Amino acid sequence: MTFKQIVKIIEAAAVAAALVFVIMLFANEGSGGGTSTPVSPGAALYQAKCQSCHGVDGSGGLGPALAGVVTKNYPNIEDQIAFVAAGKGTMPGFEGELTEDELLAVVEYTRTELGG
Ligand code: HEC
Repeated sequence: MTFKQIVKIIEAAAVAAALVFVIMLFANEGSGGGTSTPVSPGAALYQAKCQSCHGVDGSGGLGPALAGVVTKNYPNIEDQIAFVAAGKGTMPGFEGELTEDELLAVVEYTRTELGG
């Protein structure tokens, strides 16, 4: 076997590996769908950290309603992020528990998708 032949075999193997990789990427995308709708990071955080007090749809419970209210009470998103970070009374502060990105994502969610 010449050196050139060996290089050709290695090339072919690399191409085959790349093809398998691409096929697996597509296969994964297909199987991930199922019946569940994709959840945004903000929605997932809300469900995990806020929903128990503010309600599934943000209409309130132990905590006040957020949906449709927060953009009026906090015209500036920075103020709402600061409130959620600091907490107040029975509302726990999330500074340290959530990263800045997570705080932004969950607050964004309450202002947009939650109806706010
Ligand atoms: C343990 C229950 C509880 C949890 C969990 C909770 N909250 Fe609250 N939240 C409250 C209470 C109670 C208040 C009212 C505080 C006050 O004004 O004294 C409040 C107030 C708020 C307000 C201010 C509403 C307004 O109109 O002024 C925002 C915004 C808010 N919460 C967002 C969140 C977010 C976002 C999360 C999740 C990251 C969360 N809360 C988790 C109980 C909770």
